[in-house]
Amino acid sequence: MPTGRPRSIPRRAFLAGSGALLAATGMPGLARAAPREFRLRPGPAAARLVPAPHPDTAVWAYNGSVPGPEIRVRQGERLRIVVDNGLAEATTVHCHGIRLPNAMDGVPHLTQRPIGPGETFVYEFDAVDAGTFWYHPHQRSSEQVDRGLSGPLVIEEAEPPAVDRDLTWMLDDWRLLGDASISADFGNLHDAAMAGRIGNSVTVNGAVRDSFAVRAGERLRLRLVNAANARVFGLRFEGHEPVVVALDGQPVDPHVPADGRVVLGPAMRVDVILDMTGAPGARFRVVDDFYPRAAYRLLDLAYAAEVLRDRPPEAEVRLPANPIPEPDLASAQRHVVTFGGGGMMGGMMGGMNGRGMMGRMMGPGMHGGGIWTINGRAETGHTPAPMLTLARDRTHVLALANDTGFYHPIHLHGHSFRVISRNGVPTRRREWQDTVLLAPRERAEIAFVADNPGDWMFHCHILEHQEAGMTGVIRVAADATRT
Ligand code: C2O
Ligand code: CU
Repeated sequence: MPTGRPRSIPRRAFLAGSGALLAATGMPGLARAAPREFRLRPGPAAARLVPAPHPDTAVWAYNGSVPGPEIRVRQGERLRIVVDNGLAEATTVHCHGIRLPNAMDGVPHLTQRPIGPGETFVYEFDAVDAGTFWYHPHQRSSEQVDRGLSGPLVIEEAEPPAVDRDLTWMLDDWRLLGDASISADFGNLHDAAMAGRIGNSVTVNGAVRDSFAVRAGERLRLRLVNAANARVFGLRFEGHEPVVVALDGQPVDPHVPADGRVVLGPAMRVDVILDMTGAPGARFRVVDDFYPRAAYRLLDLAYAAEVLRDRPPEAEVRLPANPIPEPDLASAQRHVVTFGGGGMMGGMMGGMNGRGMMGRMMGPGMHGGGIWTINGRAETGHTPAPMLTLARDRTHVLALANDTGFYHPIHLHGHSFRVISRNGVPTRRREWQDTVLLAPRERAEIAFVADNPGDWMFHCHILEHQEAGMTGVIRVAADATRT
């Protein structure tokens, strides 16, 4: 029974629930009620990202707000998202991490025609899994997402764990100039070839914040979403012990993360249960030290003078499982996927003192192609020939190898997968993810049942890497007998 909403995400700003409320069956597929309808209008807007005396920032936003409105439904309900494009360019909306039919996946040219300026597109699908998801464009996403187009999508469990407040923190970073405007150096070679577009201003729910108000004794469910193009977050809640209960929307054995730090690569989500064990009036820093030499204070947890209760509740915080088919490793088909390229590659930087490389990378499209590869191929659009065709309803293991000196959050559309090993060592929790963060030179094996037919993007979610070659399509054959 969530009792609070993040104040910075205006729920009134969009149309909620025109459809009848589904009497909480909690079970997908049992009832077919009218869909819950939401409207998203991406377009230019102004946002107060940084406090006065800085001016507002010109952004692109859904319904005028950064982040976009929170879409929130119950598991088992059907969603209808009506997108009406107020931008001067084409767009799409991709609901990241949601297992939905291919035609609703929001990938331009691959699953739909892009939505032109002034055009409308209607997405409709069932909320099969409970969890924390998000939506963003898949068209020119390194610029469209970076300019502010993203929003949270929460699917509630039929019986969520009891907390005092159920909150979403959309984490984002921005590359702002002195006048608080967004630096327009999209697609530059340095970002594309190195760690991606890392900003200089970090926002929580659309604003650089000094503090976040809490009360002694309260229990929060904090849904963390990394909406940044390239920044990895490593959050420490000083003086507190966050308990991770879900990763990428999917339940995981509740645990305190290694060294207490909550790590989120781009596009990843982590749900934590955070008990407010501090004293009234106290302040504790939330620090992001993923990049140790660039550690900073995200905000302070600021305790009110008032006490909610003497100590936080002790109730169970384990989330109910989602209906994902369990991989059968004994019968799995195995595929090797190698990620290569990047600015530190031998010869790559060597060529940069000449003009040739720069000229090639900064050509008409501005986005450097061919910098990063998957299995030796550098693809840049949304419709490359499939890199893999998977037999439907079979278990597949993808052995991922990061042969580069950079982090890559690797995302598969249309499925969640178990991360079963890292560097040859079985993972402790066999976590379900839709985006797996590979450290430099790291190996990981992921396993899933290819039960969702269609052509699915498989790409690095550092959006500059995606556009500079680290993109592929995985086809799940429509016919179960085909391989
Ligand atoms: Cu969040 Cu292919 O994307
Ligand atoms: Cu990458």
